[in-house]
Amino acid sequence: MTAINQVTDLDIRDGIAVLTLNSPPVNALSGPVRDGLHKGIKQAIDDSAVQAVVLVCAGRTFIAGADITELGSGGPQGASLLDVQNMMEDSTKPVVAAIHGTALGGGLEVALCCHYRVAVASAQFGLPEVKLGLLPGAGGTQRLPRIVGAEMALEMMGLGDPIGADKALEVGLISEIVDGDLTQGGVAFAKKLLAQKRPLVRVRDNDAKLAPVRGKPEIFAAFRAAHARKNRGFLAPEYNIRCVEAAVNLPFDQGIRREGELFRELLQGPQSAAQRYMFFAERQAAKIPDVPADTQKIPVDKAGVIGAGTMGGGITMNLVNVGIPVTIVETTQEALDRGLKVVRGNYENTARKGKITQADVETRMALITPSLNLADLADVDIVIEAVFENMDIKKDIFEKLDAICKPGAILATNTSALDINAIAAMTKRPEYVIGTHFFSPANVMKLVEVVRGAKTAKNVIATSMALGKRINKIAVLAGVCHGFIGNRMLFARTTQSSRIILEGATPERVDKVLTDFGFPMGPFAMSDLAGVDVGWNPKTSKGETLRDRLCEAGRRGQKTNAGYYDYKPGDRTPIPNEDVVKMIREFAASKQIRQRDVTDEEILERCLIPMVNEGAKILSEGIAIRASDIDVVWVHGYGWPVYRGGPMYWANTYGLDKIVARMREFANDDPVFWTPAPLLEELAASNGGFK
Ligand code: 3HC
Repeated sequence: MTAINQVTDLDIRDGIAVLTLNSPPVNALSGPVRDGLHKGIKQAIDDSAVQAVVLVCAGRTFIAGADITELGSGGPQGASLLDVQNMMEDSTKPVVAAIHGTALGGGLEVALCCHYRVAVASAQFGLPEVKLGLLPGAGGTQRLPRIVGAEMALEMMGLGDPIGADKALEVGLISEIVDGDLTQGGVAFAKKLLAQKRPLVRVRDNDAKLAPVRGKPEIFAAFRAAHARKNRGFLAPEYNIRCVEAAVNLPFDQGIRREGELFRELLQGPQSAAQRYMFFAERQAAKIPDVPADTQKIPVDKAGVIGAGTMGGGITMNLVNVGIPVTIVETTQEALDRGLKVVRGNYENTARKGKITQADVETRMALITPSLNLADLADVDIVIEAVFENMDIKKDIFEKLDAICKPGAILATNTSALDINAIAAMTKRPEYVIGTHFFSPANVMKLVEVVRGAKTAKNVIATSMALGKRINKIAVLAGVCHGFIGNRMLFARTTQSSRIILEGATPERVDKVLTDFGFPMGPFAMSDLAGVDVGWNPKTSKGETLRDRLCEAGRRGQKTNAGYYDYKPGDRTPIPNEDVVKMIREFAASKQIRQRDVTDEEILERCLIPMVNEGAKILSEGIAIRASDIDVVWVHGYGWPVYRGGPMYWANTYGLDKIVARMREFANDDPVFWTPAPLLEELAASNGGFK
């Protein structure tokens, strides 16, 4: 074995050169990896004793892509990837990639320059660059369609999701699935190639799958139309599609040039910068400074969920989806039946779409044990209580759970705003009590805020964060305050959006400004969806607020087909209503609020700046660990457009000094609300930014 450099070894076995990359954690194509590849491949090709080369990776995965930290950082150091790829593709000795883990992005693009690829059965293959606001910039956009065809390449590049080894074998992306030791399998495959004198296949030369789609623009139109809603506002999906069009319509070298132009444009643009920031922000969120990564976790083999409503049902699905059995407790058989029917319905819908099988539906349903008795939670490892948001009910449940659950079980409460410490105080084990704020619908939304109480133990925090990852969520740790990170900032935004409509802008206009910014819906459509009457009390309502008046008029949101907007039964499209606008104007007049033209810019600033200001307070108080955690909460919990990076990232790009200056202007109307948080003021004054 020869060390080529610190991350690359070359071993010649019986005429076959095995080049091994070992650059943890994911063998990303950093400068040293590219150098190692370049020197190693060259050395193997130049060695007359070598007949074929096998490229393999040590550790958990094959090359998982370019080194994202290097992208956009002012020019990579080390060998050029293009040179490495050309050398492999043009080699007169067969080059084979032997793949395990994930061959992603630049990793798959390197493999596509090998003459053959083999893989273990669990390997995955993908070009996920679109998720980083990019496109594959190392020839992948031109080579992948030549192997898998234009339609599948559109799916893989346009959506960024990987495919498994079975599919890869079926479409010819790999030649063989290796059982047992991968390196030995790769070497055996290389020997077979030599024995059978198989040709050196250059993917770039293969036109067979593209010729049939040439002159068929409708496949691109159909793909664009199918994903238009999801892709609204994003540049990268469209640029990926254009690259596949180039692969179909242009000769290879011209296609590569097109790829390069579009790649550079995306790389230098603000969207990819924000999306790459979010990639690292999501991973950073898992790191808790005072809870070391090696903290012993509590094994979670069985769970309990209290409440079979929308939240309880969704949380149950998350757990059984990954094989954790759940005992779900309700107070009446009727509520239990209703909840389980919804869960089954959701699974059957997913099965109808072909995403899971009918057998999966049954396996998952079989993991759910319905119960009407809290005592059935005696031996679970974690209970997630998801009942109605009412402190007295929650306190009562926790007192009972304390008596029922085994020692060492985690007692979690799913709440969007309540005081975890007050709930924990009902038990003799406050160190085992924690908050989990799932977002609705809980089986779909990626975010969970994990809320640590004053006494929550470190292993309980570590276990809850890890459970979040295990159920495929992004968990962000928050401290106790009203609304935690996300809702506390939402309350600040709502204060202003509610005020702006009294000053003259319609709900429709405010919503449009925010959807144009990139949110999936604006504050008023969101309020209609959640229910205008959340927290409203008909017994005490005296028309003192606009909300009182709407609710008194029966306009309680989508569920009554009327709220800030009208709705046709069974249709969620908001329809503006003139009477509501009149009601708003009358209410404003009764409060002597002057009507004026509020510009779109002012609407946006008055909705977003209060969030940034509240975020600054949340940071100073230690409710969030870091600014990027706040961004993760808003991107994954509330639909903040990921290509704008989250509120704190946005604030940095907008300019903190400009934000403070605008707050001073708005303060003429409401000095208390518009007082800048000390941290915001301090950072603005020092030309700093949220880190
Ligand atoms: N570059 C730099 N660091 C990377 C990286 C990459 N491509 N991929 C992962 N990492 C880092 C992560 O930041 C994390 O670091 P940390 O431990 O310090 O937080 C560590 O590797 C482990 O990553 P995960 O926590 O995500 O580990 P998982 O096992 O959950 O997932 C993975 C592994 C599926 C490989 C996932 O990390 C992933 O999806 N990575 C990104 C893949 C990707 O997008 N590739 C394309 C890159 S762009 C490109 O190739 C451009 C080219 O076309 C020119």
